[in-house]
Amino acid sequence: MADLTTSFMGLELANPIIVGSCELTGSVEGIVHAAEAGAGAVVLKSFFEEQFAGEVSPEERGRFVSPEAIDYLERGGLLEYATQNTARMIEEAKKEVNVPIIASVNCRSPHLWPRFARHFEEAGADGLELNIYFLPFDPQTPGSEYENSHIEIMEEVRKSVSIPVSVKLSSGLTALPHLSKKLAEAGCQAVVYFNWFLQPDINISNLETRTIIGKGDLHQTLRWVALCAGRVGCDIASSGGVRRADDIIKLILAGASAVQVASLFLTQGLAALPGLLDGLQAWMDEHGYQSLEDFRGELSWKRQQLSFHEPRDAEAFFRSQYIKIYRSKFRV
Ligand SMILES: Cc1cc2nc3c(=O)[nH]c(=O)nc-3n(C[C@H](O)[C@H](O)[C@H](O)COP(=O)(O)O)c2cc1C
Repeated sequence: MADLTTSFMGLELANPIIVGSCELTGSVEGIVHAAEAGAGAVVLKSFFEEQFAGEVSPEERGRFVSPEAIDYLERGGLLEYATQNTARMIEEAKKEVNVPIIASVNCRSPHLWPRFARHFEEAGADGLELNIYFLPFDPQTPGSEYENSHIEIMEEVRKSVSIPVSVKLSSGLTALPHLSKKLAEAGCQAVVYFNWFLQPDINISNLETRTIIGKGDLHQTLRWVALCAGRVGCDIASSGGVRRADDIIKLILAGASAVQVASLFLTQGLAALPGLLDGLQAWMDEHGYQSLEDFRGELSWKRQQLSFHEPRDAEAFFRSQYIKIYRSKFRV
């Protein structure tokens, strides 16, 4: 049997499949289910600053923050209490499972990132994923300013915790390889491509806006994992669009150290996880690979450049205009 173990952000995982941050990882039971299904690690449902900033419904807030804490916070109390429920969940889950638990944080206020990170480290989290997101909507603010904010957050968090830290990035950033490298230099052990959002829509009957659930894009993720693997100074995990074992194999061939999966498990349940592992194992056996290292990054751009492959083998990762394909396909 092929060895599925992998090292990701300094953590040893039994296999590369991580249950990504979502409702499935927002409770001790969910974490236990994920571990029982065979997950290599779990990323907890993000702790959002908004949860106690009064911008979400009291019911939603109550899932993560105890009523006493909400009351205290609403009266301007200490922020120490905001993370109480999530910290308690980590403590309890650590007693139940052996898989690495990666806490996830999303803040708006710069000074809160390191504070929350420290709370989750103290509760026993094995790692931390910073779910950083800025919508660059201000015409006066250049892209570099948004990108620098990522580095500043990373530097502050790094000063506060000693557990491994990763950053989940959005796909809209202008110079992803450069930013990823800068993050690694600031102490980031892994980047996760990509963050995911609610998407806007417009109801043309009543002229109202609404949000819909976005879709992870496997091919976009594949492109950037392949272009950045081995070139940015830290591990890369993918997040987006995995529906079957083949997708996991592709992402590892592109250079991913781990693969996060959320929607598939939300729709089909965690019972789908063993099938992904079986599919990966069967493919490795069929190709005679003993471990993930035997083929990880084999089709990354860096490996293609260094090997004797035809350079055009990596062309698919670069090509985004369709003129040639269109011509050859339709004989124009
Ligand atoms: C219902 C739902 C809730 C999510 N909540 C979070 C979250 O709290 N934090 C986060 O970083 N990502 C969150 N995500 C994004 C997922 O972790 C993942 O990045 C995204 O869904 C793309 O991967 P997928 O195609 O496997 O679903 C959520 C996704 C869904 C569908």
